[in-house]
Amino acid sequence: MHLPFRLLVLDSRKSVLIIKQINKFPQNLHLTVSMSNMSYDSGVAGMRAAYRSRQELFTESDLVCKEPIGQFKAWFDQARNDPSVMEANAMCLSTASKDGIPSARYVLLKGFGPDGFKFFTNYESRKAKEIEENPKAALTFYWEVLRRSVRVEGNVVRLSVEESDEYFHSRPKASQIGACASNQSTPISGREVLTAQEKYLTTEYSDKEIPRPNWGGYMVIPQSIEFWQGQSDRLHDRIRFRRPQETEKPDGKLLHEGDNGWVFERLAP
Ligand SMILES: Cc1cc2nc3c(=O)[nH]c(=O)nc-3n(C[C@H](O)[C@H](O)[C@H](O)COP(=O)(O)O)c2cc1C
Repeated sequence: MHLPFRLLVLDSRKSVLIIKQINKFPQNLHLTVSMSNMSYDSGVAGMRAAYRSRQELFTESDLVCKEPIGQFKAWFDQARNDPSVMEANAMCLSTASKDGIPSARYVLLKGFGPDGFKFFTNYESRKAKEIEENPKAALTFYWEVLRRSVRVEGNVVRLSVEESDEYFHSRPKASQIGACASNQSTPISGREVLTAQEKYLTTEYSDKEIPRPNWGGYMVIPQSIEFWQGQSDRLHDRIRFRRPQETEKPDGKLLHEGDNGWVFERLAP
């Protein structure tokens, strides 16, 4: 017997087809077929994690305060105190060159407050060069077990020399040596280049303070901070705080008045 099928090609590059059996079953049948040799693991498209249930919504009344730094603290504290979150302070830092070519990598959050979000890096690295020519960045946290993500966007400034010195010298000596031994983001011929440099510096500074190399801190001053919480039905919760434009007035429907000069709004997922 032939059953009527409707064939939907979702994305031919990813070799994913949906075959719908008309009038028989309401659900779609997802099939992976080999249409080209470009796909190594087409099953990825069908991967789906269970998120939070409808009983665990993130609504406006769940905000612990009406400004984003306090809200970030509440979520961050939950993440850092959850033993299944290994590095709650890992965040993806996105920068772009002056021509708008983006790049992203993880760094560690090393402090936050009403002024912004701090991290430390090599001042000659790719990210630092991009920040110097285009001082804007985005930060993305994802705490998988909590089904939560936070996005921060804003301008970037260097931390003071004093703050960078203080933090650099507070790090374990091996990390200080490591920072000196590596010209971050430059090509090297092999790992031995690093270990030789590490050995030399360890001897050289065995009884002296290690001078801070061209390495230090930056702060992202937030213009917007979005809180995302995943729901199983994909109707995720998104509440974004942002600085309002000069003429913008909260209407209490789409845009709400927050504290400390912030406004907030719900975004469709
Ligand atoms: C979890 C994690 C945390 C990291 N933390 C830092 C950091 O705080 N500072 C840093 O310079 N690189 C950190 N790195 C390494 C960067 O991801 C990246 O390799 C390096 O900074 C060079 O990036 P760039 O060439 O784009 O400048 C971290 C990597 C991971 C995976």
